[in-house]
Amino acid sequence: MLNIRVEKTAAPKQKPDMSKVSFGTTFTDHMFLMDYSSAEGWHDARIVPYGPLPIEPSAAVLNYAMNVFEGLKAYRTAENKIQLFRPDCNIERMNNSADRLSLPRVDPDDALQAIKTLVELDRDWVPSGDGESLYIRPIVMSVEPDVSLHCTDRCLFVVILSPVGCYYKTGLKPVSIAIETEDARTVRGGTGFAKCGGNYAAAQRAGMRAEAKGISQVLWLDGASKQYIEEVGSMNVMFKINGEVVTPTLETGTVLPGVTRRSILQLLRDERQPVTERLFSVDEFVRAAQSGAIEEAWGCGTAAVVSPIGKLIYQDREYTIGDGSIGPLTQKLYDELTGIQWGKLPDPHGWIVPVC
Ligand code: COI
Repeated sequence: MLNIRVEKTAAPKQKPDMSKVSFGTTFTDHMFLMDYSSAEGWHDARIVPYGPLPIEPSAAVLNYAMNVFEGLKAYRTAENKIQLFRPDCNIERMNNSADRLSLPRVDPDDALQAIKTLVELDRDWVPSGDGESLYIRPIVMSVEPDVSLHCTDRCLFVVILSPVGCYYKTGLKPVSIAIETEDARTVRGGTGFAKCGGNYAAAQRAGMRAEAKGISQVLWLDGASKQYIEEVGSMNVMFKINGEVVTPTLETGTVLPGVTRRSILQLLRDERQPVTERLFSVDEFVRAAQSGAIEEAWGCGTAAVVSPIGKLIYQDREYTIGDGSIGPLTQKLYDELTGIQWGKLPDPHGWIVPVC
């Protein structure tokens, strides 16, 4: 059990008007910090007012992107209780990502205690509007002031909180996504399965090219052959083809093992919906789209929840998915998942962890 020192803010901030908040731009009154050194391990757990971190310019996180992070949410139920969704999965993934980057693991019970204590302290920041929640961003980073590439001696575990609504400005409206043919997100043996800052930094250029054409995001192909569909970066993808749900396999190590992905696969299997996790090539996608076999496609992730895909663009050709509107299975999955998360539906798998 962590001994968490709490220093409350003397100047609580005004809560935002949620209708004007863009995703991930507003932060609560407090943050959790814990230091690591190879001599002492994790120590000095504390909650302090949210604010800038004292980090040297030589810190490894600033020079070599030595960080891993997570994204999970706290939800306010109709009974005014605050709850988390599968935080154990995020903590497990954070530690798997940390292994890949040679960063220290955080004890899962300590990480959960840190998250729960911080959320409970800032519980008034958990919004109550439709589709609104408190996004939780844990980060492990190397703050070692050393540019010699020996950089995991001194680390910091940080948790910050951000009240959020819909990730996409368009709400639950179908998004258009371009299949990226130039840049690569990762390759086998790389960091694709890890949630580390560098993956997202390398994805920016393609994302900005797409945005300039009015396209929301890019869908990544495997970095080596540019043949196999992998993920969007902010979300995993699923296709319903001739009645079967197909999603890229995790076996390549190049796709993020999404907690929402895993939960949706479980919900589909609960209902005996045929599902396969396998290699899915862009040629197969094109053939299926041309023959009208693609009934629905959606992205899924903590931030994006379940986001219908209305259109995919590949080599300058547009492929409309179904009739371009949200499909019935996509809507059902959105309703089921959010129903469990906000406590409106039973939680048969024990995914909900109460906070207060
Ligand atoms: C999440 O869904 O939690 C993510 O990390 C996506 C983020 C890059 C906005």
